[in-house]
Amino acid sequence: MERKITIAIDGFSSTGKSTVAKELARYLGYIYVDTGAMYRAVSLYALQQKIIGKDHFEVARLIEELPNITLQFQYNEKLGFAEMHLNGVNVEKEIRTLEVSGYVSRVAEISEVRAKLVQQQQEMGKNKGIVMDGRDIGTVVFPDAELKLFMTASPATRAQRRFDELTAKGDAVHYDEVLENVIQRDHIDTNRKDSPLVKAEDAIEIDNSYLTREEQFDAVLELVSEFTKTI
Ligand code: DC
Repeated sequence: MERKITIAIDGFSSTGKSTVAKELARYLGYIYVDTGAMYRAVSLYALQQKIIGKDHFEVARLIEELPNITLQFQYNEKLGFAEMHLNGVNVEKEIRTLEVSGYVSRVAEISEVRAKLVQQQQEMGKNKGIVMDGRDIGTVVFPDAELKLFMTASPATRAQRRFDELTAKGDAVHYDEVLENVIQRDHIDTNRKDSPLVKAEDAIEIDNSYLTREEQFDAVLELVSEFTKTI
């Protein structure tokens, strides 16, 4: 039987990480974990409890409440991927709104939040056979991952993708506010003190500004098979 490996996919927001990670996991029969969904669910909790809002962020209260936050991925057979459940409630839709996107980078700056989520992520990947995407997977969560990818694309390309996704879901958003959110999150994610978004030294960079979904998948699959040949 083939040896199972860990595949870490990091990169900026809306670079198509989760699309490629999902397809890859399905193809390889691996588990897929979208770690952004975990940070988004904690942010949603903070919003629901009014811990964070337009003019306030009670960081100490969020830290205090962390033990009350249970995150679980539950596989949805129809959709073919696992959906995020926050304290037993399916929040897959709620965590993808522009409102949550507007707060999530600030929640992800908190070291105590990161420590809790990283521990859970490491537990999920302890038996390998996993594709995990996020910002710190190849650097912090699985620094020993056999294959690390770092995805990039121009902010305009990424904003257009996110805008198309949101409008397809019926969200009334403006392209400019989506672009602003993308740029703002890039800035916070790359400049935070704890586990900033950086390319791991041994990660392979893929700029997919001009790649179609199929071209991107083929490129990644080629890397995977090249890699699995050598182990
Ligand atoms: O992948 P995403 O856009 O859904 O992630 C949402 C936010 O969560 C992102 O702006 C930064 C944060 N994040 C993080 O800090 N570390 C991760 N491993 C994944 C996401």
